[in-house]
Amino acid sequence: MKTALGIDIGGSGIKGAVVDLESGKLLTERLRLPTPAQAKPEAVAEVVADLVRALRWSGVIGCGFPAVVHHGIALTAANVHKNWIGTDVNRLLSEATGCPTFTLNDADAAGIAEMRFGVGKENSRGVVIMLTLGTGIGSAIFTDGYLVPNTEFGHLKIRGKDAEWRASDAARKRKKLTWKKYAKRLQEYLNEMENLFWPDLFIIGGGLSKQADKFLPLLSLRTRIVPAQLQNLAGIIGAALYAGGMI
Ligand code: BGC
Repeated sequence: MKTALGIDIGGSGIKGAVVDLESGKLLTERLRLPTPAQAKPEAVAEVVADLVRALRWSGVIGCGFPAVVHHGIALTAANVHKNWIGTDVNRLLSEATGCPTFTLNDADAAGIAEMRFGVGKENSRGVVIMLTLGTGIGSAIFTDGYLVPNTEFGHLKIRGKDAEWRASDAARKRKKLTWKKYAKRLQEYLNEMENLFWPDLFIIGGGLSKQADKFLPLLSLRTRIVPAQLQNLAGIIGAALYAGGMI
């Protein structure tokens, strides 16, 4: 059986589980440890090492990280500590854990899992855009199942502001928006996205996908839009697939 440990580093939690790469099923519980305050690189690496020890894992690790990750190096830091910029995340985490670790953008990881084992499985033809709505907005774009990595469409400017500042789940909570008001903001963003990319399908993932029934019916788009299926496991499963060379 081909397996890898998948890890999803987020603003409030660092989650991980061992994944069967053929079926996408978890072989251990999903373990969650709190992200350390400030989330500086060394402190996060220690928590990742704790998680690896707690799961008694030795082997390949895949890690989803909420920034542009170019060949293992973090190049942006929208919602994480600025010290990450320029950090060789693969090296940092490989040294901390003693296991070969391969890092990619968190939304790319979630998209990979959703395309392989989730809603994208039967819908991979053409252009598919996965958007994760959480602290920020993450994006992953696939053409006929192939990922174009590190798209950062949460930072598309809408009314002069980053889209994630207006339409992420964090924005909804910060502004205490009703679902109707939130859907209006999301609609404006998705209209812009569909006019630029003409996708066949939008997949909505991230923390807010659990409540998709509250806002998806309020949207009126040209493009078909569906909630993600794997929910909070997508990032873990996709990171494991990436590390295991399954993409
Ligand atoms: C980051 C992306 C990330 C997204 C979701 C954005 O602020 O720029 O890299 O994928 O948040 O975590």
